[in-house]
Amino acid sequence: MLWLLLLFQLSLGDLTYCEVPEFTFKPVSGYKPVLLQMVFRHGDRSPWLTYKGDQATYDCDISQQVRFLSAQGMESYEFHHIKTEVDKEKMVFAKDNMYGGSCQMGQLTRKGLNQLATLGDKVRASYVGDNNFLPTYMNISDIYVRSTKVWRVIQSAESFLQHLYPSYSRDPDARIRVNTVPSEIEYAVYNDYGMCPREAELEKELFDKWFVDELDLRHKEPYASILAKAERFFGVCNYNWYDAYFDILQEIQCNKLEWPCIDTESGEKECFTEEEFNKLVELVYHDGVYRFFDNDTIPLARLDAGWFLRDILSFQQMKHEGKTNVKYTHFHAHDTTIYPLVSLLEGDYSSWPPYASYIIFEMYEKDSEYYIRVGYNNKLLDLNFCSKDENGMCKWKSFFDHMSKKIPKSSDCNAQNQ
Ligand SMILES: *[C@@H]1O[C@H](CO)[C@@H](O)[C@H](O)[C@H]1NC(C)=O
Ligand SMILES: *[C@@H]1O[C@H](CO)[C@@H](O)[C@H](O)[C@H]1NC(C)=O
Repeated sequence: MLWLLLLFQLSLGDLTYCEVPEFTFKPVSGYKPVLLQMVFRHGDRSPWLTYKGDQATYDCDISQQVRFLSAQGMESYEFHHIKTEVDKEKMVFAKDNMYGGSCQMGQLTRKGLNQLATLGDKVRASYVGDNNFLPTYMNISDIYVRSTKVWRVIQSAESFLQHLYPSYSRDPDARIRVNTVPSEIEYAVYNDYGMCPREAELEKELFDKWFVDELDLRHKEPYASILAKAERFFGVCNYNWYDAYFDILQEIQCNKLEWPCIDTESGEKECFTEEEFNKLVELVYHDGVYRFFDNDTIPLARLDAGWFLRDILSFQQMKHEGKTNVKYTHFHAHDTTIYPLVSLLEGDYSSWPPYASYIIFEMYEKDSEYYIRVGYNNKLLDLNFCSKDENGMCKWKSFFDHMSKKIPKSSDCNAQNQ
């Protein structure tokens, strides 16, 4: 029944995944701001797959968009001086193997860079100032930044931070450090180096053991035919999910490009349609609910994002204990980070986190009690597991205790099947 409900909830033609999420939050009055934390997905990017005959073009040229990380103009966007060019006429391998324009695979587009800049301006307008979360004038020891070691993600963080604190509002020569970890041991997103075997096992068990019926939708019409068609167009998805198809097609829809067509063996032209894509979106959203599921038996979201959650909570704890001066923590990662985090926070994760999605944590103090408020893409989360005050504000300690139980142990990654 769950899938039926979900399908009815999804209004067709809802293109929220194309746009930067709204941001209209304001700090709660009557409570003293203590710590602001945000977690983001990177901005709009070029697809990470292309296909024979790909006619799309994407613009990733930000070589002119130099803004300075340092008040003295010492730095700019990472890699801003590297320009990519794809010329389908002149470049021997380009015609059949790459979309056109100025992007590497999965590179932040100019649109993506601007999405984070827009959010930086909005957060600045409401959260920077006297008696607010963030001081008017930034001292780099006020903020902590962590990003995955991925070009588009680092650039997204930079774009946001340069708008949150333009150079005139920083110490001279204040360079913001972006902390990263080697990708091999990254835990802010699914670890591709096999560091957590149990995570892969659990994903498989979703199909074999837990949600056999629910995930059977893909074998039913009209979904089965659409997936078969996508496979003819874009090649076999070598995975249980179909992110790659969604990825290519949503960029086409968002950028209002032509739907892809191929020549069939009989010499006719066959095209993908918008209706078919909309059905695919339903399927992707539906399956995402199981894919990022979390409970004590199926701790999938925990293994996806639990250690990242621990980092977020540990800043709150340090603040509570008076052990840090940090006023803002900025975490920049991926859709597959946002998805499980929202799941762990028991929010609504029934649709794909759009580019530049964000989660905001606001920690407050009032009469020696600490409180927390959490929002996801301009909606407050219910946090029904919290104990709340008369204004409905969640008491931080109850939040912290509840969420801390979801932090996994490293032994939880051990494979259980032989
Ligand atoms: C920045 O913050 C640090 C640590 O709180 C402090 O020692 C330093 O004096 C501050 N710098 C300025 C220019 O206020
Ligand atoms: C977790 O969810 C699965 C699937 O709904 C269910 O079978 C299992 O009993 C749940 N475990 C707990 C501890 O609630």
